[in-house]
Amino acid sequence: MTATLLFRSVFNLRLVSLAKRRGFVYPSSEIYGGLGSAWDYGPLGAELCNNVRAAWWRWMVHERDDIEGLDSSIILNRLVWKYSGHEETFTDPLVDCRECNTRLRADKLDDGKCPNCGSKNLTEPRPFNLMFRTHVGATAEDDADALVYLRPETAQGIFINFLNVLNTSRRKLPFGVAKLPFGVAQIGKSFRNEVTPGNFIFRTREFEQMEMEYFVRPGEDEQAHQEWIDACRQWFLDIGISADNLRLYEQPKEELAHYAKRTVDIQYRFFPEREDEERHWDELMGIANRTDFDLRTHSKKPEDAEGKRLNPDSTEDLSYFDEQTKQRFYPYVIEPAAGVNRSALALLMDAYSEKTNDKGETRVILKLHHSMAPIKVAVLPLAKNKPEIVGMAKAIKRSLQPIMRAVYDDTGGIGKLYARQDEVGTPFCVTVDHQSLEDEAVTVRDRDTWEQERVKVSDLPTYLLQRFGR
Ligand code: GAP
Repeated sequence: MTATLLFRSVFNLRLVSLAKRRGFVYPSSEIYGGLGSAWDYGPLGAELCNNVRAAWWRWMVHERDDIEGLDSSIILNRLVWKYSGHEETFTDPLVDCRECNTRLRADKLDDGKCPNCGSKNLTEPRPFNLMFRTHVGATAEDDADALVYLRPETAQGIFINFLNVLNTSRRKLPFGVAKLPFGVAQIGKSFRNEVTPGNFIFRTREFEQMEMEYFVRPGEDEQAHQEWIDACRQWFLDIGISADNLRLYEQPKEELAHYAKRTVDIQYRFFPEREDEERHWDELMGIANRTDFDLRTHSKKPEDAEGKRLNPDSTEDLSYFDEQTKQRFYPYVIEPAAGVNRSALALLMDAYSEKTNDKGETRVILKLHHSMAPIKVAVLPLAKNKPEIVGMAKAIKRSLQPIMRAVYDDTGGIGKLYARQDEVGTPFCVTVDHQSLEDEAVTVRDRDTWEQERVKVSDLPTYLLQRFGR
């Protein structure tokens, strides 16, 4: 058994099984035997991830005056990764177990032992670069000029577009985004050839990031950093993660990336089954103070002590001229960086609950925050053989679908239909019964309390939006 499989076997199995059974997450390429640690998002998983992205984008971009969005390429000029430092330093220390040939990350070993066979007979650590390589154009695979990487973070696409955003944004307006501080947000896929991926969707080689680079004046960086740490923690609370399962982790100096002055991770209790309480926690997002490293390193002007250009390849200077103080400088960068997939995993774990009814039957209830629930409302006919009831239920579903994700389901008895919706986190079920044909009203049933309320069909959209706090 490989290390990856070993880890996966102790991960929250009931959640993994629910995710697969109900179409949140499937093992990728399964009909060909799968591909290690690659996952596909099914209908409900795609909705959940869309909800995460939409909430983050609304919060970061739409609800602020000082942040704009960007969608840069996944494949960038190789020089981006040379000057960002990734070619040289984006490595993990790799060791091989001489007994069972498992490849491991030296910094993740307990007591220097192979987790697969327990042997301590390991090779010396050597750096392994995590960037995936490929080649552009119809060229030989060993042509060094054609070598490119799949981006390991979305951030660099923002730095190299700093001047584009600065020059094209509304910088003359009083609340113009391009006056410092201002930020650029991006959501997109990143790729890392992780040595030990695993734990379901926690660590994969292909994943999605939500990153924002917030450009500030040097000297204003520390306060802005702290404000973003607090704001990001609050955002996770706002989308429904419980405070008990979140904590802040101050990265010690030896853990900091080469560009960082200070980094605080928001950790989630991803591994509650582990014996050691300290090992329950792992990173959900990181919030780094990247100083002026990035804009400086991609600029043509900075020189070394002998007057030699540090970056002879760049054609631009990414400095900022402050009209008020008449000073030119490289802005500092505060970077909140989260993962879509890890957020989805934290949401699923946090929402997973079980409830036993009077008959002793245990049901799964996914108590997702309504903004994250893949389906907001399910419309269910009490009698599927009664055309008037079915017709009314379908019409109600159609009337709701322009304003919220609504589904119609008549493939079981009402108890089974409720259970099915509870299991995927649908906050409300609307039942159409015989009485509905008379009084033009329906029963709305709450996922969390199982309480039922009679609501006029004409009032239903407003009623549901109010219950969602909109
Ligand atoms: N630009 C900074 C940066 O990329 P990071 O801490 O390496 O920072 C940010 O990544 C977030 O991206 C992490 O907190 C995590 O949520 C997500 N992430 C990173 N590597 C991942 C992986 N292999 N699988 C899933 N998510 C990952």
